[in-house]
Amino acid sequence: MADEDHIEALLARLSRAQKLALVRGATDPEGTATGYLPSIEEAGIPPFRLVDGPLGIRAEGHRATAFPASIATAATFDTDLARRQGAAMGREATALGQDALLAPGVNVIRVPQCGRNFEYLSEDPVHAGAVGAGLIDGIQSADVVATVKHFVANNQETHRTTVSAEADERTLRELYLPPFRSAVDAGVGSVMTAYNRVNGTHMSDHERLVGDVLKGAWGFDGYVVSDWYGLESTVGAANAGLDMEMPGVAEVPDDGTGSYEWPDGIPDATRAGLFGDPLAAAIDSGEVPADRLVDMARRVLGQMDRFGRLDGGRTAADDGENDDEVGEIDSQRHRDIAADVAARGTVLLDNDGVLPLADGADVAVIGPNVDEPKLGGGGSSETSPVHSVTPVEGIESRAVGAVTTAFGIPQIESVSLFDLLPFVGDDDADGTAEDDTRREPSLDDAVDAAAAADVAVVFVRDATTEARDRESLELPGRQDALVSAVAAANENTVVVVRSGGPVELPWREDVAAIIEQWYPGQADGDAAAAVLYGDRDPSGRLPVTFAPESQYPTAGPERRYPGVDDQVHYDEGVFIGYRHFDDEDANLTYPFGHGHSYATFAYGDAEITAEQTVTVSVENVADRPGREVVQAYVRPPSVEDADRPVRELAGFEAVQLDAGERQTVTLTLDDLAFSRYVPDSGWTVDSGTYTVEIGRSSRDVRTTVAVDR
Ligand code: BGC
Repeated sequence: MADEDHIEALLARLSRAQKLALVRGATDPEGTATGYLPSIEEAGIPPFRLVDGPLGIRAEGHRATAFPASIATAATFDTDLARRQGAAMGREATALGQDALLAPGVNVIRVPQCGRNFEYLSEDPVHAGAVGAGLIDGIQSADVVATVKHFVANNQETHRTTVSAEADERTLRELYLPPFRSAVDAGVGSVMTAYNRVNGTHMSDHERLVGDVLKGAWGFDGYVVSDWYGLESTVGAANAGLDMEMPGVAEVPDDGTGSYEWPDGIPDATRAGLFGDPLAAAIDSGEVPADRLVDMARRVLGQMDRFGRLDGGRTAADDGENDDEVGEIDSQRHRDIAADVAARGTVLLDNDGVLPLADGADVAVIGPNVDEPKLGGGGSSETSPVHSVTPVEGIESRAVGAVTTAFGIPQIESVSLFDLLPFVGDDDADGTAEDDTRREPSLDDAVDAAAAADVAVVFVRDATTEARDRESLELPGRQDALVSAVAAANENTVVVVRSGGPVELPWREDVAAIIEQWYPGQADGDAAAAVLYGDRDPSGRLPVTFAPESQYPTAGPERRYPGVDDQVHYDEGVFIGYRHFDDEDANLTYPFGHGHSYATFAYGDAEITAEQTVTVSVENVADRPGREVVQAYVRPPSVEDADRPVRELAGFEAVQLDAGERQTVTLTLDDLAFSRYVPDSGWTVDSGTYTVEIGRSSRDVRTTVAVDR
């Protein structure tokens, strides 16, 4: 109560102009922040800085730890590790003078080729919600505001600033809204609205979803911030519940012609200041109630106060881990967390026994980018680390046998939103660089190196960016041909894939092992070597189904993706990801939740121990330690007229087991997996017998137990 009184007293002292300054961004005089609110010195309110983004801190002019892509964090299925990553990012934000982090991104992955899947977490809402909550809890434990984004149904980059996601209420409630609900339940301080529309209404104007659902039904009491240049109206947004316009200042690019066309996916940066004078005028005219401005300012001040910004210092974190005053950057423990996430999020897709590598094996390290770490995708989440390790460096420092290197084909160039801007770079961003002037790659050299080694390890990558979807799920350039040529020369060929989401692996029957490492960040080569040589168990599991492109529910018709007349119809309803593949029995490559360990696990019988708790004993029956991700799926009873997914993820738990060790694992079952949303009556749990499937993936059930509801 005392805090509330304090905020109310402060609000009463602020002039209208001062309150307006709290709801519209301005230029950061230090130039480090992505978004900035100026100080109001007379009232003791310090400046407030918001910074990107999910993979680490992108403060202009500064380096920071480059954590793995969010999808790698999600692949760990380890919410405690997500929390530790969040706390590290929070400490780095503090060290760089920032107050709010524009992370995590929790949009449920609908379209496999979406350019931002690497910044998101999962095709499943329970999984995305749990990992997102871990990240939020961590960020905020370091007294930095977390910003969950992009609310809601921002599921593709093509036409992202204009497209309307046409989705029915059940689909929104069961799939796309829940991770945001979990974020609110985790106490997130801020929510960022998406650029797109939902059922025709722009998200920053969406009174029903922002005002009624988020703030009303869910009781969100933090502030809602626009995406950058994502505000379309003053009155509509203010009355819908938007609290802060960012960045608030227009950028007028000077390309010499005075007229330019914003490329698809790039918002019009000349449109800014809608919460400046126009908001004052709308209050004067009565179109926006004056107390709406008070509420906006109250919400912003509330978060500043909550994280100690209004009392001249920051509140002490309760775990004693964080030095909140000064933060911490590029420390050894942050490097270790980045390496931990990269290794733990690594998914062993296939292994005929060639892995782990023998210490003394002679290894040919092959691939067009083996001399570069794969930090992330392009766009607002780009990071610049102090320290990074390339694939070659990582393997050279671990190998005992001889290591040779060959590029094989021209380098795969990264693509970036920043190169799409008409006033910054050219538009030639297809991910390949056919004239590689840095070196002269030769396929023959790669084949010779492979033939002469005991093992060939080929590193391949895709190239993705915010603001543009991938054209296909194929690897860019001639990487498929490179893998096939190497595999023909050496039967012990291991492929290490770096991708932002699912990719097609046409040679997968011809190679000995395949590892998926997402975008591993600064620890790249070290994490790869740790898993390849078995120093770390590959304990990542797939947060997205891998399948041929034509098999996904968004593969056609066009109205489903990329949309027709700026509308994208979610006709598949709740049947995306594994829900679709289970329903259709469609052809898939690797199921959701899949990933091998170097150890082997035996499951005992599952037992329901409380309404929402199931236990199962898991034993490591191998002669080496390993990490298992125990997954629980719920199969509903069949009910007339209810078209439900075959199974839905209800919970998961990662467990580290020594050779021969057995543990009883307790899983909490999320209500979402039991419920369905019926438009006229709301959430319903049908009475009947539900089967809880416990296993290693959505397609590898080890034991089941029935539960009546
Ligand atoms: C992105 C946001 C990001 C913002 C600020 C936008 O283009 O969609 O995720 O936080 O820019 O950089």
